[in-house]
Amino acid sequence: MDIELIKKEAESKIESVNSLDSLEELRFKYLGRKGVLAELTGSIPSLPVAQRADVGRQVNALKEGLNKLIETKRASLSGPLARESSRGSAEIDLPGLAQGLGQLHPISQVMDRVCEIFMRMGFTVIEGPEIETEHNNFTGLNIPLEHPSRDAFDTFYLELKAQLLLRSHTSPVQIRAMKKNKPPLAAVVPGRVYRPDATDASHSYMFHQIEGFVVDENIRFSDLKGVLEVFAKAVFGSDIKMRFRPHFFPFTEPSAEVDISCIICKGKGCSVCGRKGWLEILGSGMIHPNVFRNVGYDPKKYTGFAFGMGIERIAMLKYGIDDIRLFFENDLRFLKQF
Ligand code: PHE
Repeated sequence: MDIELIKKEAESKIESVNSLDSLEELRFKYLGRKGVLAELTGSIPSLPVAQRADVGRQVNALKEGLNKLIETKRASLSGPLARESSRGSAEIDLPGLAQGLGQLHPISQVMDRVCEIFMRMGFTVIEGPEIETEHNNFTGLNIPLEHPSRDAFDTFYLELKAQLLLRSHTSPVQIRAMKKNKPPLAAVVPGRVYRPDATDASHSYMFHQIEGFVVDENIRFSDLKGVLEVFAKAVFGSDIKMRFRPHFFPFTEPSAEVDISCIICKGKGCSVCGRKGWLEILGSGMIHPNVFRNVGYDPKKYTGFAFGMGIERIAMLKYGIDDIRLFFENDLRFLKQF
């Protein structure tokens, strides 16, 4: 019998075995009382005297080697990973490999939440381009040529000849949506807007707004108040108070800025609300008849309201964040908290 051949065969079989049961079978086959090696040992007396000692040594060495190999294999088949692969099913008590779960940016979370609140009231969600025409961003919205917001210091103009710019608010989507559709209309518009402001704790040259508008016959200011109250209570809690302060926007008349009672001091006055007890959250009003004329709607037949809010501001108030730059620095220690 060729000992070398037996050694090779046994080693490769042990190596490729993948269960403890088949390993035990191999051990029995080679090292058992009536196994291959026992047979080899038994054949020694029939060998020529000169060879007996040598073959005996070889068989002993092989026995030792196979024993070691089997023990090593047994250890590796007994580990948790090995148990899993040999069974071909999940090892349920094996500690899992931690998978870092991704999550939405806090601005996306707040934007989704706000859209959802309005969707439940029957609004659709639409979007518009960030590169706008001067007409949609200003003229169509009844913003006169001499208005300071049209100044190059307040708007990023792209191509003067083509009269393109980076929209400075989401209101131009009012113009797009009204031109494309007939009333009744109820939509919210989330998106990025741009203003050439110097960056500081409360200013960023890019931020996010959500615009909302409703157009139909007999839409009243009280509809605006009701819708905004549902929104504010859903975001900031049902115990907050609201107030509408008269304001001016060229595209709404009358116009109002909306405040909520300070969520930190509950209206008593603190450093967050500047001792006023109120926090401004958005601009709003009844859509100006000139805007309706500009899109071809009859202002005698239709009325509507519109509002616009900064998402960063809503998120900062909701979570008590005091620096807008934190949203854009991509620091995971900040972002992971939401
Ligand atoms: N577009 C205004 C702004 O950016 C907000 C606004 C929207 C006000 C709609 C009234 C109506 O400040």
